[in-house]
Amino acid sequence: MAERTGLGQEEISWLDGGLRIEQANKMVENVIGTFQIPLGIATNFLIDGRDVLVPMATEEPSVIAAASNGARMARGCGGFSTSSTGPLMRGQIQATGVEDPFGAKQEILMHKRELIKSANEVDPMLVKLGGGVNDVEVHIIESRLGPMVVIHLIVDCRDAMGANAVNTMAEALAPRIEELTCGKVYLRIISNLADKRLARAKATFKSEDIGGHEVMDGIIQAAALAEVDSYRAATHNKGIMNGVTAVVLATGNDTRAVEAGAHAYAAVGGRYKSLTSYEKNRNGDLVGTIELPIAIGLVGGATRVHPVAKANVKILGVKSADELGRIIASVGLAQNFAALRALVSEGIQRGHMSLHSRNIAMQAGASCDLVDIIAARMAAERRISVDRAIELMKELEKEEN
Ligand code: MEV
Repeated sequence: MAERTGLGQEEISWLDGGLRIEQANKMVENVIGTFQIPLGIATNFLIDGRDVLVPMATEEPSVIAAASNGARMARGCGGFSTSSTGPLMRGQIQATGVEDPFGAKQEILMHKRELIKSANEVDPMLVKLGGGVNDVEVHIIESRLGPMVVIHLIVDCRDAMGANAVNTMAEALAPRIEELTCGKVYLRIISNLADKRLARAKATFKSEDIGGHEVMDGIIQAAALAEVDSYRAATHNKGIMNGVTAVVLATGNDTRAVEAGAHAYAAVGGRYKSLTSYEKNRNGDLVGTIELPIAIGLVGGATRVHPVAKANVKILGVKSADELGRIIASVGLAQNFAALRALVSEGIQRGHMSLHSRNIAMQAGASCDLVDIIAARMAAERRISVDRAIELMKELEKEEN
């Protein structure tokens, strides 16, 4: 990995619990320690013609194996191809008690240039990098307290996630918005429904690479249910987020922002639905696609501070937040494809439990050198439980003595 990614000795040493308590103490409040979870590399990802090693931070067994497996099956048709809308985020300013919401809307739109200029003055660095506010929208929202005028600043955040930039701009404009609307402004904050920061990925799978036509039909059936049934869609999307969140976390980004955005986007049409779709193309191959908001950054936040996140960004070899977002979308698609494939064929439990059996052996108190032996035995017997692990542990300890 060092050869492929150019990671130095020091960076490699960071990977094992590289966040020191002094650093953690500067990141959040009331620090008493650091909390580690496993970090693995998902392999086989060919994205826009480039082989990418994908660091994933997750506590869930079989997620990294499944993503790698899904990515391997996509390679036959060239891997993942991606696109995006660009790094635009929305900031919301809520004006209440406005007597003439439509008049206020016109007033704001008439002063659009002035508002954009004032907002951009707050963050000259972002403007210098080619970003900044590039539009203002006015939404009149009917609420149970009457109409509210909600102004949206559309901000190009470049390589930042953007929350700080957008929130500062929204706060700076609030007094002027009160003047223009004759209303009272309360909220001045980013929207996590980042519908102008979408990442998309597409992969094509040949039936012979994925276990045959029946598996393909099963995946299409499963996807069709997730399009119309919110109970299934929630689990379907949870599987996508297994991959998405693991990469977002590994790169020091805000997992909650991406999760909130993904789920809100899934419900944007009025009913919660799946974020992926599957269909057959003219050649009879399976085409999987995903589209979701990915609000992440490469500058600011923990990405530039957390040593493991820094090493992970280097492993990914990404040059922009946009590129990272498209990789994350590809991982979400691979993760979802692998889950659906397992679900419609052998079921999820066999693979999952044989990997989970190591956790069970650890729960039973097995020492590190016995964990793999006990896990392998339980998987072979198909009896995976803490009780069985304890029995095997006792047997093995007796044999050793
Ligand atoms: C488990 O973490 C994720 C799955 O439930 C996803 C799915 O059902 O599609 C397997």
